[in-house]
Amino acid sequence: MKINKLLKALAVLTIGTLLMGMMVGCGKQYIVMGTNAEFEPFEYREGTEIVGFDVEIAEAVAEKLGKELKIEDMEFDSLIAQLNAGRLDFVASGMTIKPAREKQVDFSDSYFTSKQVIIVKEENEDIKVGEDLKGKSVGVQLGTTGEEYISEEEDVECIPFNKGTLAVMDLVNGKIDAVVIDEEPAKRMVAAQKGLKVLEAPFVEEKYAIAVKKGDVELKEAIDETLAELQSSGKYDEMYAKYFAE
Ligand code: ARG
Repeated sequence: MKINKLLKALAVLTIGTLLMGMMVGCGKQYIVMGTNAEFEPFEYREGTEIVGFDVEIAEAVAEKLGKELKIEDMEFDSLIAQLNAGRLDFVASGMTIKPAREKQVDFSDSYFTSKQVIIVKEENEDIKVGEDLKGKSVGVQLGTTGEEYISEEEDVECIPFNKGTLAVMDLVNGKIDAVVIDEEPAKRMVAAQKGLKVLEAPFVEEKYAIAVKKGDVELKEAIDETLAELQSSGKYDEMYAKYFAE
């Protein structure tokens, strides 16, 4: 009798463990976001943790899918290749929708409107508008729209950096004349560093979206639904107030 009970319990335990193992093995229990956590307030490090506006959106997507969010931090420049190599499920990295990128990935609905701005030293009287960048050296982040615009300008020396903060350091040290980068990160960098100012730049408006692998309709739809729900529930406005309050 006793032995029988024990055997039963063991059987239940074994089957249970096997079933759980199968569930974990079959359905992936986490979803992988690729990002470049050098872009406050969209994605940045607080201690060892990666936080920010994009991370909160990604958390909401993971929750909708019933999965756990895993974040891979890498160079901005390699995100699309890593996505297409299957190492990421999506890219949430303040990424601007661009025709050239649309050939490589599918974008969700846009969740943020931005633009490029110019950062110069506070005492700089030389550079007031975009035109004044002629003959100057301008730091940008590698692989970004800022790099694209500046490298297309004639007579402007375009200097790519792996991180926006490195470009700003060279600006502070007088090695370059200006930095061109997205508006919100620019504001944060200038607030964190004495002696800099932000100028309006004549660049077009940009729309940020989340990128998925081409043809990953299911995930794109889940992301779009999540974005719509964040809007209608008022959560988006809450997040906006939290990260972009003046
Ligand atoms: N919006 C720009 C782009 O798409 C810059 C994005 C940079 N993002 C980052 N996480 N470093 O090219």
